[in-house]
Amino acid sequence: MKIINIGSMNIDRVYEVAHFINPGETIASKNMETYVGGKGLNQSVALASAGAFVFHAGMIGDDGVILKNYLEFRGVDTRFVRTINGPSGHAVIQVDEDGENGILLYGGANQCITEAFIDEVLDYAGPDDILLLQNEISGMEYILKQASQKGIRIALNPSPIDDRLLDMPLELVTWFILNEIEGRALTGKDQPQEILEEMQLKYPGRHVVLTLGSNGVVYSKDRQYYQHGIFKVAAVDTTAAGDTFTGFFLAGVLKGLKAAECLRIASAAAALAVSKAGAAPSIPMLQEVINARLEEVPYEEIPRG
Ligand code: RIB
Repeated sequence: MKIINIGSMNIDRVYEVAHFINPGETIASKNMETYVGGKGLNQSVALASAGAFVFHAGMIGDDGVILKNYLEFRGVDTRFVRTINGPSGHAVIQVDEDGENGILLYGGANQCITEAFIDEVLDYAGPDDILLLQNEISGMEYILKQASQKGIRIALNPSPIDDRLLDMPLELVTWFILNEIEGRALTGKDQPQEILEEMQLKYPGRHVVLTLGSNGVVYSKDRQYYQHGIFKVAAVDTTAAGDTFTGFFLAGVLKGLKAAECLRIASAAAALAVSKAGAAPSIPMLQEVINARLEEVPYEEIPRG
């Protein structure tokens, strides 16, 4: 069983700032680093780091060889990473003193995914495989429909959420891994429990994993319900924490682990990612996650506001 991730690859320029920039303001950053990132690439790296057999598919520009090389270095198969004329995707990321980030995306090559390319990639997958998607590339609707027609199960991290994605046939998705902002956009509900209930009504029988930042994570499918708290770390940079969670969670699914165990490993991996700077380079290897002695903060029901 393999996982194919058709997803973005970005060059991240990360600026350390005292606070996020306001309209009309000019501020100096304290530091700037360039990292390998993109939600797609980060999730492929997380999957491979967690021990999954993962193929990354997508487009880079003339400046993107660093992205392909990094995927290979982290054990991802890159036969479906293609180069086009023009710039790769990039992200301008502000990271504040609490480690929170604000991200501005430029799609570049990520927006050059063609139907012919999608057909070629999907021809390589079968009903035993899982297709993973985020929302930073072109061709999403075509991918969803073609993959589903071929009986390939789809996992979607609907990030970043936008109106275009909300209009797509999301009933074709088997696993939703989403945060509260995405959950609200998909359901119109505010509270985590309401979001889960509404997701089950809209998409019955699907696996729904709702990440709640420092409050932990909840999972539901039919009548099954699990929750997990967070692992305590000193926050350096939250960039790619969600991607790390997604990759480790799905790697657990591929290994046949129970949902509760997938939540635990993915939460620990995400905590380690938060404790390091950068996107892909902050993603730990499975052994680091197993060896880490992390203090667990139990999940607490969020009071209804
Ligand atoms: O999820 C973090 C990622 O979002 C960054 O690496 C950036 O490239 C954007 O895609």
